[in-house]
Amino acid sequence: MATEPRLYLDGCATTPPSEGVRAAVAAAQEALWGNPSSRHQEGRQACLALERSREHVAQLLDVPPDWVIFTSGGTEANQLAIHGVLGTAGGHAISSAVEHPAVGKLLHKRQQEATELTLLQPDGHGRLASHGLLEPLRDGPVNLVSIIAAQSEIGSLQPLAAMGPICGSRGIPLHSDGAQLCGKAPLYPRQLGVDLLSISAHKFCGPKGIGALIRNPRLTLEPLHLGGGQESGLRPGTPAVPLVVGFGVAAQEARRALEQQGEPLWQRWTRQLREQLWSLPGVEPTGHPEDRLPGHISCLVGTPGGEPLQGSHVVRALDGWGYAVSSGSACRSGSAQPSTVLLAMGVNPARANSGLRLCLGPWLCEGDTAIVEDRLQALPQVVRQLCCGLTPLNRPQSVRQTRG
Ligand SMILES: Cc1ncc(COP(=O)(O)O)c(C=O)c1O
Repeated sequence: MATEPRLYLDGCATTPPSEGVRAAVAAAQEALWGNPSSRHQEGRQACLALERSREHVAQLLDVPPDWVIFTSGGTEANQLAIHGVLGTAGGHAISSAVEHPAVGKLLHKRQQEATELTLLQPDGHGRLASHGLLEPLRDGPVNLVSIIAAQSEIGSLQPLAAMGPICGSRGIPLHSDGAQLCGKAPLYPRQLGVDLLSISAHKFCGPKGIGALIRNPRLTLEPLHLGGGQESGLRPGTPAVPLVVGFGVAAQEARRALEQQGEPLWQRWTRQLREQLWSLPGVEPTGHPEDRLPGHISCLVGTPGGEPLQGSHVVRALDGWGYAVSSGSACRSGSAQPSTVLLAMGVNPARANSGLRLCLGPWLCEGDTAIVEDRLQALPQVVRQLCCGLTPLNRPQSVRQTRG
């Protein structure tokens, strides 16, 4: 096993909570256990902390605080947005073939029941064309458009800024799953014309189990659950105040980082590593070359002769070398099914299990950056060696060699 320090390069699956977030959550566990709906001092303190965090999340996205509805994460925010708009009626929704399963599976299930569903198809870079919306919009009433902001598997950004006005001028609510983009790049739903935005704290160094649906209050939503009147009646139940507090700190830290001038070190590392990996023989870049999620590198891996390798085998081998990466979306890990995102992009089915994804972020700059830099510089050579040594997909699946 590798003796060097491990390098965590799977920030799209989750990120390590920052030191500030960990301290704030621990302090809130101690002191802010009151129920924010209670009128006494313990309750009022918890309520104050909750509302302060709401303001911090709102500031990150440049929306008024009453747009922020706390949820348990991105998955729940997506369900609240979609069921919330469509309700029990079927309705007609437009979405895409490159959504995260938290949107894709939900819409598919609704389609089996009563919802008419139109899926936009991506180009070879996993990008959707905004004008792709025009035809289904001409065909009849549409109740909701739901488009992912940044695709987690291949990193491509979607043209929300062009889609917002198309939906807005027709009065159609636009929902976006912004779980991957929020906190990593400027994301302003009001400027984009996005009425509903799902976000998740653990994707940008906040705690797991907390997120939000950002909702333009002009939209009336059906809640998923019935209960108390918390979160404007849209998310009944006593809020997890310590997690909300950690979310607020993560939002403040992300905002501060986004306001800083110049390219952060981890983004420079990403650029350099991407160029090196993408130029290896047998490695094929995936996703858009420029309009990408910050910190994101994705590719298909193969032998130098071009025979596809199983992405999960490369992940396992790199884990042994001390690099934590993934073969695609964390929600698909362990699945033997080829990536539906890669298939939708037109990748040959024989290669659709060959995805490899690396996601860098600010946590890499917290310790000794010289060590991190050394380890990143060594990585392309390790990948190159593995690609020569692993058994290709179209040959028997035993691993011939995982260490060089
Ligand atoms: C694009 C996207 N949406 C939603 C989710 C789910 O978020 P959460 O884990 O907070 O439920 C994820 C997490 O992988 C994601 O990448």
